[in-house]
Amino acid sequence: MQPTLTTGAESLEIRWPDGTVGDLPYIWLRDTDPSGFHPQTGERAFELTSVPLDLVPSQVEMKPDALLVTWKEGDRPSRFDLAWIKAHRPGQPRHDPADLAPVAWRAELGGDGVPRHDAAGILTSEAGLAEWLADTKRYGLSIVTGLADSTDAGMQVARRVGFLRETNFGLTFEVVSKPDPNNLAYTSDALPLHTDLTNQELPPGYQFLHCLANEAEGGGSTFCDGVAVAEDLRARDPEAFEVLSTVTVPFRFHDANTDIRSRKTVITLNTRGEVSEICFNAHLADILDLEPARMMSFYRAYRLFMEMSRSADYGIALKLSGGEMVVFDNRRVLHGRQAFDPSTGFRHLHGCYVDRGEWDSRIRVLDRSRV
Ligand code: OGA
Ligand code: ZN
Repeated sequence: MQPTLTTGAESLEIRWPDGTVGDLPYIWLRDTDPSGFHPQTGERAFELTSVPLDLVPSQVEMKPDALLVTWKEGDRPSRFDLAWIKAHRPGQPRHDPADLAPVAWRAELGGDGVPRHDAAGILTSEAGLAEWLADTKRYGLSIVTGLADSTDAGMQVARRVGFLRETNFGLTFEVVSKPDPNNLAYTSDALPLHTDLTNQELPPGYQFLHCLANEAEGGGSTFCDGVAVAEDLRARDPEAFEVLSTVTVPFRFHDANTDIRSRKTVITLNTRGEVSEICFNAHLADILDLEPARMMSFYRAYRLFMEMSRSADYGIALKLSGGEMVVFDNRRVLHGRQAFDPSTGFRHLHGCYVDRGEWDSRIRVLDRSRV
């Protein structure tokens, strides 16, 4: 059975035999004509302002497998494949293989529950890479095992995903206790749970911390799923959730060469209202400059988030060994470390970042070759 067509003042309605209805505005049809896209690059070449907003077709015709829309008598019609137009009808977002729902996790996951993937599988097989990308995206956290004892080894895995994200700490950074540190990470102090570089316009997405040595006493790694904390906060205290998703915190990092500032809400929601990002770093929060009348409600909400994230309900702890690398979504999962005693042994992590866009792109490209 053929779909049926009804022409309206501004749009065309297609009704498929299975009951699916497509409401196709004429201006959208004109703008979406496949011949208006560059044959090699796939980019839109059509110039929208070359047609009036209220254009209407002179003729509409249904063929067995295509819809033909003629805009001007004598011109070649726009041709739309019927299956294609059904899949792309307005209101239908394009299928996205990278749109993987987060698995919110809490303390029960434990260090042993963190997905683990072997570096060799990621480096040598597309299926191994795809599985690791999907797992890490769903949990916001994974451990890569079996890395060579070289600072290049972690970067090699990161580059399997895409371009590294360079920051004011460099393309990669060494987490070791240093004299004259410009960052608490470069001391042997404990680091409470945080996300990195909240002072950046776009905080880096995935963080890679390759452990080359962890022989000192202490120095365990801690993590907590910001999505789990935020979703539980929404249920438990909607007012606090509202404050943290609307009030922006000023963040700032400055040293001899830089003064990098940005304002961020602690919780960001996506267009579906789901928690899509957490920005939480007490060390980088600048002097709070909210209106005095808003201070108490902000501090109440902010402290509650802080207490929840540090409570035994959410946190997991593990100690990385040489040859392991923790990989996590820095815009979702909070990370920290326990203090260590540098006189008892050497501790050395090598880090870098890869943004979320690179991650999702790699998932999509690998999905193309799946049968
Ligand atoms: C950091 C950090 C964790 C660690 O460098 O930002 O959180 O285990 N380091 O040293
Ligand atoms: Zn950090």
